[in-house]
Amino acid sequence: MSKLFESIDLRQVTLPNRIVIAPMCEFSAQDGCASDWHMIHIGHLMLSGAGLMMIEATAVEPQGRITRECLGLYSDESEAALGRVIEVARKHSDMPVGVQLSHAGRKASTLAPWDGPGHVAPADGGWPVIGPSPLPFAEGWPVPEEMTRADMDRVLAAFEDAARRCVRLGVDVIELHGAHGYLVSSFLSPIANRRTDRYGGSLNNRMTFPLEVFEVLREAWPKDRPLGVRLNGTDWRDDGITPAEAVAFAQALARRSCDFFDVSSGGNGLGAKIPSGPGYQVPFATQVKEATGVPTMAVGLIRSPYHAEAIVATGQADMVAIGRGMLNDPRWPWHAAEILGHRIRVPPQYERAATQADIPSWGR
Ligand SMILES: Cc1cc2nc3c(=O)[nH]c(=O)nc-3n(C[C@H](O)[C@H](O)[C@H](O)COP(=O)(O)O)c2cc1C
Repeated sequence: MSKLFESIDLRQVTLPNRIVIAPMCEFSAQDGCASDWHMIHIGHLMLSGAGLMMIEATAVEPQGRITRECLGLYSDESEAALGRVIEVARKHSDMPVGVQLSHAGRKASTLAPWDGPGHVAPADGGWPVIGPSPLPFAEGWPVPEEMTRADMDRVLAAFEDAARRCVRLGVDVIELHGAHGYLVSSFLSPIANRRTDRYGGSLNNRMTFPLEVFEVLREAWPKDRPLGVRLNGTDWRDDGITPAEAVAFAQALARRSCDFFDVSSGGNGLGAKIPSGPGYQVPFATQVKEATGVPTMAVGLIRSPYHAEAIVATGQADMVAIGRGMLNDPRWPWHAAEILGHRIRVPPQYERAATQADIPSWGR
């Protein structure tokens, strides 16, 4: 019996298996509004047989977008546009839907990857960026405005508003983006946070604003629905957050009823030495899972179904999130099921293609 294909309950939401489609920015929105691309992208991934579709980093205010083309959930128009995509996809899929709520902080207002790299100045449709301290991400990047308490209150209200929009859209799961050097992650990291007030310095101080964001979401999000956090297991730099600090942050979130962790790493500054390879972030997920007892997903270069199965079956993590593997092979869960001897439900229109057993080996 495959463990990867066992269901898992997160509050009242049941994921039919442990395969999560990792959040992936598409840089294809207009004024934060999901486009036809999202209809195709989310729609087809929701036919994949995964256990959860986690929609890309979705900005809670316009200045929180990474690029001008990023998805948002901060206006009635952006709510309606995402609502249309979810409604259509749900006509053909009962896969639970998650939204990753995000604020890009000092890494906002950049060019889309295929137009970049580079920052977009306010005169060109960009905007001034904000962060914990007036320290640019790297040379040539804009100096963020140090956030005042009023800025924090505005951002908290934006997270709350976005969570309420998720309620209206019938979203099943919210994941707070607390990784990769974006706003929440930058508050946690001593690389980006050099404040001398109660939001900087000790880990407890650096956690204060991130925990406030979580608490606002927990309050706005229905009790029957899971709220999780993507966090950095490490910044991969001596002057960044360490695995022990990541665990302490996760424990603080667990005490506030965080329902799952999604453990990633990096993105708080250049010069990180990342020993990237299959499952390179799994040990951080295992540490968080063991220290908190909260369901945890591992992510990062998990491509082989056997590897995914081993991670879940040996208890290194409870779920695996697959990013590029899903883009490369949108039927990854079908193929994993076939390899691991599990029968997966597929749309009736595709039933005749659900197994590769009838295809001669030369056709594979
Ligand atoms: C095109 C693309 C877009 C991404 N966008 C996001 C995002 O919106 N939020 C996030 O937390 N991570 C994002 N990531 C990181 C992925 O979620 C994932 O953590 C990373 O790609 C490693 O997993 P993989 O090796 O399975 O791709 C993105 C990755 C890719 C390739």
